[in-house]
Amino acid sequence: MKGIVLAGGSGTRLSPLTLVTNKHLLPVYDEPMIFKPLKMLVNIGITEIQMVIGGNGVGDIVKICGSGSSMGARLSYVHQDRPGGIAEALKLTKDFSAGEPVVVILGDNIFENDISPYLEIFEKDIDTCRLFLTESEEPHRFGVAELAPDGSVIGIEEKPKQPKSNKVVTGLYFYPADIYDVIDWVQKNVGYSGRNELEITDVNNYYVRNKRCKAHVLDGFWSDAGTFPTLLRSANFIAQKKQTK
Ligand code: G1P
Repeated sequence: MKGIVLAGGSGTRLSPLTLVTNKHLLPVYDEPMIFKPLKMLVNIGITEIQMVIGGNGVGDIVKICGSGSSMGARLSYVHQDRPGGIAEALKLTKDFSAGEPVVVILGDNIFENDISPYLEIFEKDIDTCRLFLTESEEPHRFGVAELAPDGSVIGIEEKPKQPKSNKVVTGLYFYPADIYDVIDWVQKNVGYSGRNELEITDVNNYYVRNKRCKAHVLDGFWSDAGTFPTLLRSANFIAQKKQTK
């Protein structure tokens, strides 16, 4: 299984810090943000990883992550020339995936859960995309899943004003090998959103409509670290975890 870390975007929500450096290099307590998702993939045995990078200071991402060998990974990089959304960033990794299913993680997401059991499930059912949900007090900031009583996904809305649930879609996605065809389909038939991004939510809804999407609700800590409050929350979580070790 190949891994993809998406670390593009301009990080405007962390301006002025991101005017001179890359969001993914900002510290989450004792490490640059990007180390967290990278190490998470390596810890579950995904070592062949491509990173999509963009925004200010991308050279420093390469400088600090290098070949990935210090973390036990084999890293390659691809540059996203403009912040066009998660789905557009993912599209750039098509050659790297070489027709295999992929595990995708956002470079600013911090997870506590061990996801290896889900990877085993995915490997036995590789035509079904898997999403990971968590309960949020601010669902309007994220992709929000509407669930049926049996836990199946009815649909996902990106940053809805009136969220249908408090279950939000985290930035970890397991995709079947046809993901790149689905992105092309979305680009052609749905297009770019109001924020001028090719939305990963539209991609996920394609799998939902085709009954090829399963969602798991995570119980551990999760946060993005792309705003000042969530960057602080993530750092505090890591600090607390280190203290209790
Ligand atoms: C993106 C996705 C959203 C998801 C979130 C997780 O939001 O569009 O569906 O819930 O990542 O971090 P963005 O960070 O682009 O606002």
